Amino acid sequence: MPIELFEMERMQSTWENIVDYDMSESGVRPLTLRELVDMGFDLESFLDTPLGYSQSNGTIALRERIAAGYPGASADHIEVTNGTSEANHLIALSQVRPGDTVAMELPNYMQMPGIARSLGATVRTFRLRLENGWQPDWDEFDRAVTPETRLLYLSNPNNPTGAVLDDDAMRRIADRCTETGTWLVADEVYLGAEIDRPRTKSFWGLSDRVIVTSGLSKAYGIPGVRIGWMIAPAEVAASCWAQHDYLTIGPNKMSDAIACVAVQPANRERCYARTRDILRRNLAIAREWVGGLDGRLTWREPEAGAIGLFKYTSDFPSVELAERVRTRQSTLIVPGAHVGLEGYIRVWLGGREEFLLEGLRRIGEELVNLP
Ligand SMILES: Cc1ncc(COP(=O)(O)O)c(C=O)c1O
Repeated sequence: MPIELFEMERMQSTWENIVDYDMSESGVRPLTLRELVDMGFDLESFLDTPLGYSQSNGTIALRERIAAGYPGASADHIEVTNGTSEANHLIALSQVRPGDTVAMELPNYMQMPGIARSLGATVRTFRLRLENGWQPDWDEFDRAVTPETRLLYLSNPNNPTGAVLDDDAMRRIADRCTETGTWLVADEVYLGAEIDRPRTKSFWGLSDRVIVTSGLSKAYGIPGVRIGWMIAPAEVAASCWAQHDYLTIGPNKMSDAIACVAVQPANRERCYARTRDILRRNLAIAREWVGGLDGRLTWREPEAGAIGLFKYTSDFPSVELAERVRTRQSTLIVPGAHVGLEGYIRVWLGGREEFLLEGLRRIGEELVNLP
């Protein structure tokens, strides 16, 4: 079945390298290879390493290190992938069949619906409610997740709200998936990017139906190495490996080696602390910007992640607003429509201070002129 365009990713890949201010990103400004060398990546010895194929499901060393962060997991539960997005994709390829139902929250990073529909599944959604701190609408949730639901995808912390599910919500979601026999795919790529709250809890271990996906792209700040992973029951990890053999075979050798360094607990915490530092400073800048816009924007500040999700006070369609900002200000933002929430814009808060200030200023220029 043909696959529909992934609107947000296509918009980003078309324009992000052309505009002056790419404010459509969602992670913190990335680390350099030099910073990874400072953390212990042995570049010198890597220069003499033959660039052959790497272990296709991730080297044992990397899988063991990742598994150590998830109680009860071993290397057999891990599949290392080319980014978190490939982990999500492999899970869908291996689990979803024509006629299945796939559930997901809205708003969301909209990768899963396109994949699910291309595999012949029907997508059911439930909303996260702003008035409820972006926790799920439980009536909608109960209707979306039933014994017919093959797979439920969510991201926690969530892209784009930056909200974190509370303990009761996590328990309720996991219990429902146990009861209905639904795979709960919890995309935790923003876990560790908390700004002023305790570390987000992982879904891992809350139900034997849980599959966690994550990677180096967001909380770690290393998207360019394209390393992600899943932690899944061993038979699910094995069936995803079978898909991986056909798709990309596996991650590249240098990325695997870099990831081996990044995921060591001390380095992981160093990356998370860097992320938190950047976000704390930038959040203050964003707060001041919103305050200066005379009520044209409202928001619930993110608890985690480098994204501001702003509601604007106009009926102007978000895609047209984003287009205005791009064409008139050479600045890229994500229209709410691309993440399942019309009337909002999604703005990157993870850049350098001077970049953020100018990017926000340009967006503001268009907001004050909205009909
Ligand atoms: C929730 C979520 N999952 C996955 C991805 C893609 O991650 P990766 O770069 O690791 O493939 C993104 C990117 O924005 C995301 O927001």
